[in-house]
Amino acid sequence: MLEVQNLSKSYGPKLAVDNLSFSARKGEILGFLGPNGAGKTTTMRMITGYLPPSHGQVVVEGIALRESPIEVKRRIGYLPELPPLYPELSVRDYLLFVARLKKIPSAQRQPAVDRALERAALGEQRQRIIGRLSKGYRQRVGIAQAILNEPPLLILDEPTAGLDPRQILETRNLVRSLAGEHTIILSTHILAEAATTCERVIIINQGRLVAVDTPENLTHRVKPTDTLQVEVSAPAEAAAAALRALPDLTAVEVLGQHQGASRLQVEARTLAAREAIARALVGAGWGLRELRPVELTLEQIFLSLTGAAAGAPNVPVAAAPGEPQSEGEV
Ligand SMILES: Nc1ncnc2c1ncn2[C@@H]1O[C@H](COP(=O)(O)OP(=O)(O)O)[C@@H](O)[C@H]1O
Ligand SMILES: [Mg+2]
Repeated sequence: MLEVQNLSKSYGPKLAVDNLSFSARKGEILGFLGPNGAGKTTTMRMITGYLPPSHGQVVVEGIALRESPIEVKRRIGYLPELPPLYPELSVRDYLLFVARLKKIPSAQRQPAVDRALERAALGEQRQRIIGRLSKGYRQRVGIAQAILNEPPLLILDEPTAGLDPRQILETRNLVRSLAGEHTIILSTHILAEAATTCERVIIINQGRLVAVDTPENLTHRVKPTDTLQVEVSAPAEAAAAALRALPDLTAVEVLGQHQGASRLQVEARTLAAREAIARALVGAGWGLRELRPVELTLEQIFLSLTGAAAGAPNVPVAAAPGEPQSEGEV
């Protein structure tokens, strides 16, 4: 439903977006992930028609933005990084004003505003003055104005930036509830956000596309082996020896022993290796207490992919067991 084709943008000598191509399917939530300065806002402003591209084009539902800008803009709801709110207006009056700007026929304005208020969970705030709302509510007003004319495509630029943890959760839930009916592109520089909210993720770095895939597939792309942690009631060295005898394991490492049990980490080339591990340990008469895959965090994937894209050596990304995994922003 959205095609971005070879999009580039230069600000003077600075190439902010460099030959970017991707597409979005109807009803999906697409995460647009990249560090600050990666070119997310610039790309979103080009998709919404606020900024002319230096090269390339944007096609929404088969209509080219360059040929029919008004037709395309009508199909897009946009939440900019800083939503254009009027602090002195009430929520309802502001939305009625936006409805007029969006040329919603007068008889339909009130029902459109009521519906947007309801979908953005703002019904009880309708009479409140925007300037006195919390940042979380103001962000919802921004989302309400974006969905007012029920556009098929929603472009949300860092919708959770600056919100507190509870407001972040509420905003994520709101965004998820809007998917299906709307195709959503949501930018973020927070990895965990893309992993929890989005079905597919586009990773950009320095204006260039690094990867487009599901968070799950990105994990496999970065690291094809299966990392497993095993806890078995056996002496560590005996258990390690039994595992090293199996064909599909590329590494076996003892992590520790505790109360008669040992913890080991193994790298397996195939999924079937999990069954072989269970058979070997139980067959030796030991109790298998745990056999658990260790997932890569999206952060490790991101660092690995962007490191490779910048020409740096591909850093090893095996998740360190039991180590606190770094959280948050890159
Ligand atoms: N109006 C502008 N003039 C000059 N450079 C800009 C302008 N807007 C953005 N840039 C530069 O373009 C790059 C991409 O910025 P931006 O799209 O805002 O990234 P993001 O939203 O991913 O943080 C940055 O290096 C930024 O400094
Ligand atoms: Mg930005």
